[in-house]
Amino acid sequence: MISIKDFSFTYKGSDVPALSGINLEIEDGDFIGIIGGSGAGKTTLAHSICAVIPHYRPGDFYGSVTVNGMDTIDTPPEDIAKITACVMQDIDSQMTTSVVEDEILFGLENFSVPAEETEQRITEALEEAGIPELRYRNLNTLSGGQKQKAAIAAIIALKPKILILDEPTGELDPQSSVRIFKMLKRLNEEHGVTVIVIEQKIMLLCEYAKKLAVLNRGRLLEYGSVREVLKDAARLKETGVSCPRVTDISEELRRRGLYTGPAAVNVDEAAEIVKGVCEADD
Ligand SMILES: Nc1ncnc2c1ncn2[C@@H]1O[C@H](COP(=O)(O)OP(=O)(O)OP(=O)(O)O)[C@@H](O)[C@H]1O
Ligand SMILES: [Mg+2]
Repeated sequence: MISIKDFSFTYKGSDVPALSGINLEIEDGDFIGIIGGSGAGKTTLAHSICAVIPHYRPGDFYGSVTVNGMDTIDTPPEDIAKITACVMQDIDSQMTTSVVEDEILFGLENFSVPAEETEQRITEALEEAGIPELRYRNLNTLSGGQKQKAAIAAIIALKPKILILDEPTGELDPQSSVRIFKMLKRLNEEHGVTVIVIEQKIMLLCEYAKKLAVLNRGRLLEYGSVREVLKDAARLKETGVSCPRVTDISEELRRRGLYTGPAAVNVDEAAEIVKGVCEADD
């Protein structure tokens, strides 16, 4: 479990806290989407959970962040990394070798995975990420999307209990984005991995995440089930988060006094609501 209590962080040299007053609990096996406008503090939150903050980013740290009972402030970051793996927003800074296979191997060796296990871990991770054919490719020759998948493969080979991904589909086309989310769902449901994903494509989060956390200017504005959070579409829009178009439909009908039920979070639900309104009109 991840437990964040009264947490605030201000980067060294900055006057404004990047995060302030954050209280958040993430249960084992959860699938959380983090949304919020640019500069809202999403990456800072991800870095705080995987202990990059405070160990590699200096600043003023108040409150506590614990991961499986380990307080990130006084636990060696390597110990947190054994449980929590992070695919960063800037994947280039994360890559340390030049070939896909070496990149995966590097992590496994760092984690002292026995040599007899490495072959299977590499093959499985490449399969999971959908890139077995890229195994021997030089990272410099990969497209942005391929590189993203290679970074994900290197992380899932470590079999983390908690997986944090910072905008993993930013460089991907819609089809590849869905493939990544299907992979995350499989890791979450079949292997019990806790997934935390920062994502701009809100329709994907609606379909795959169980809960949403909304950040706005360093504060946690909302945290709850996808449906609960989307219900307040107007409030979300103020924070620079655009609701899915299907939710706009249910909320517009609500505004016009034609609908009073829960917010729609997928196309089928929106279609049902519109049908209901039309039938009531007949
Ligand atoms: N290394 C740093 N040093 C100083 N300030 C920083 C640093 N990294 C981020 N910030 C500031 O902290 C705030 C939160 O930034 P953060 O990167 O967490 O936002 P974000 O929600 O991930 O934004 P984006 O959607 O652009 O990725 C911003 O005001 C940003 O300028
Ligand atoms: Mg960010």
